[in-house]
Amino acid sequence: MDTFDVIRNRHSARSFTGEPLPKEALEKIVDAGRMAASGNNLQPWDFIVITNKDTFAYLAQSTDWISSAGAVIAVVMDPASRWWVEDGAAAVENMLLAATALGYGGCWLEGVTIEREAEYKVLLNVPQRKRLFTLLPVGVPAEISVKEKKPLDQVLHWEKF
Ligand SMILES: Cc1cc2nc3c(=O)[nH]c(=O)nc-3n(C[C@H](O)[C@H](O)[C@H](O)COP(=O)(O)O)c2cc1C
Repeated sequence: MDTFDVIRNRHSARSFTGEPLPKEALEKIVDAGRMAASGNNLQPWDFIVITNKDTFAYLAQSTDWISSAGAVIAVVMDPASRWWVEDGAAAVENMLLAATALGYGGCWLEGVTIEREAEYKVLLNVPQRKRLFTLLPVGVPAEISVKEKKPLDQVLHWEKF
């Protein structure tokens, strides 16, 4: 797939076959996150790859479909860094695109992460001064729903709004 096909083929996956992902694939996905743009090149991120079934079971208490993922990538950001939210978002999108390019799917799972951040930080040993930005379950998609996007001519403006 070329870059534009990958972008078009990225859809949030919330149901997976349960197949584990090879370590090399997980490393490639995280490597894509690490290569993202960041304000002043500060790179205020860390990534935790979770494959442990007990940890999955804990996370699945709030989001049951997590248990079918091949892995969950937790994105940890340093809030002392000026553009940590933007930088985190760039890293997540890169990883979603990398997962798609490798034939996997994933989903940006921020809502529940934020609600249960304190609890999950303890579970994952995240230092107190850091933020758990989002969880990113990845895996072989069992089912994908394609969301409608606004048409280009509705959002593209030339020269002025
Ligand atoms: C900042 C952000 C937070 C999100 N949080 C969640 C979430 O908590 N749970 C979830 O199922 N999907 C979450 N998503 C995925 C969106 O629902 C999804 O991207 C959107 O519906 C468009 O679908 P698509 O990703 O297939 O294009 C989030 C996406 C973003 C960018």
